[in-house]
Amino acid sequence: MDKLIINGMVPLNGEVAISGAKNAVLPMLCASVLVDSGSVVLKNIPHLHDVTTTVRLLRSMGVSVTLDDNMNIELDPSTIKNFYAPYDLVKTMRSSILVLGPLLSKFGQAKVSLPGGCAIGTRPVEMHLDALTRMGASIKIENGYITATTTKLVGTNINFPKSTVTGTENILMASTLAEGNTIIYNAAREPEVVDLGNFLNEMGASITGHGTDTIKIKGVSELKGISYSALPDRIETGTFLVAAAITGGKITVKNTIPEHVETIIQKLKESGAKISSSKTSITLDMKGVKPKPVNIETGAYPLFPTDMQAQITALNTIADGISIIKENIFENRFMHVQEMTRMGAEIRLEKNCAIISGVDNLVGAPVMATDLRASASLILVGLAAKGTTEIERIYHIDRGYDCIEEKLRQLGADISREPM
Ligand code: EPZ
Repeated sequence: MDKLIINGMVPLNGEVAISGAKNAVLPMLCASVLVDSGSVVLKNIPHLHDVTTTVRLLRSMGVSVTLDDNMNIELDPSTIKNFYAPYDLVKTMRSSILVLGPLLSKFGQAKVSLPGGCAIGTRPVEMHLDALTRMGASIKIENGYITATTTKLVGTNINFPKSTVTGTENILMASTLAEGNTIIYNAAREPEVVDLGNFLNEMGASITGHGTDTIKIKGVSELKGISYSALPDRIETGTFLVAAAITGGKITVKNTIPEHVETIIQKLKESGAKISSSKTSITLDMKGVKPKPVNIETGAYPLFPTDMQAQITALNTIADGISIIKENIFENRFMHVQEMTRMGAEIRLEKNCAIISGVDNLVGAPVMATDLRASASLILVGLAAKGTTEIERIYHIDRGYDCIEEKLRQLGADISREPM
């Protein structure tokens, strides 16, 4: 078990390159089992625990997976021998549910552990299961496992009552080889869904409308292996921009897509940052500027992303005034708040809102990470605090951020990883 040690109040300066998007790569790894011929080569893969967990899961099914030293991954599903995702793997990574749609569509069977909840919420998957049932799967849940079988999935209309990212992705993948046409209404519009749709189309699928709330898929008979590079991580992009803002620094974030972080840029401009962008980079300058408070309400893309809520909460702790953060997606995504108050932040929780009164100074303290994005927000307040902050349980961070302390050190941060 490691911990991060941060000595704060160092303004960040310089350039940082963004890695591939975790939430684009995970579904693409699972989609590789759909191909009939050739292998899938994925590039721009981030060094993340969730990626290695997904590789372990696919290898346990018999998929041949090789990684080169640039973390390009080649997957050949022709050696697959079982369709089973065990609890001991799924419990560490809920997104393993993304093998369900591809396995059912390609092999007509799958036994996948129910993902269970996590720190931020109960995280049910009934919308995934209802949709697959409507497509002709027979699904049983017993002893904590989803057992699904079908002779052949049949395309139909799927109307999600709520926008669900991995629900949309599971049905998108499942319908590529289904009989006939599928229309997904109220589909998630996240850039990672769009990237998955583009990836599947390059494999030979017939998908239109991805990126809108209505996606149409014509079932095809087979898909072929391709080489594909995943899109940059918009949440890592936003996290580094807030790191520069909260320390009063100036950085350029490279290898990113500014249009995917428009709502984040808008809020950072409101907080007083000067921001300019090129096609693949964003420069944020907050030198000598005390942040102004910004109110946010999270929502499905293109609204403000829930995965950036904790990071903006961190920025607001040192803003000159009161701000309100409303979390509309997950029922328990304020676990970072009590840790921040240990560092002198003034935050009151009321239902799904956090009311923050900015303070002049935060003071470093030992704190505990609880979930992926909460952990990132604790790094951010540690970078801004006077003195030393120690963050425990940083395995949460390693699930979703590629070499975060190395990248922050490149920008001048005084941060190191030490064994507990
Ligand atoms: C994806 O989770 C992301 N994970 C999450 O990122 C992200 O926070 C979330 O989308 C929202 O943007 C991956 O892409 C691997 P949802 P997902 O289904 O798909 C409820 C991170 O930090 N719901 O869009 O699981 C659900 O409880 C992670 O990288 C049901 O009720 O989220 C939530 O309240 C954290 N029933 C809302 O819908 C269902 O069957 C949206 O969840 C499915 C979801």
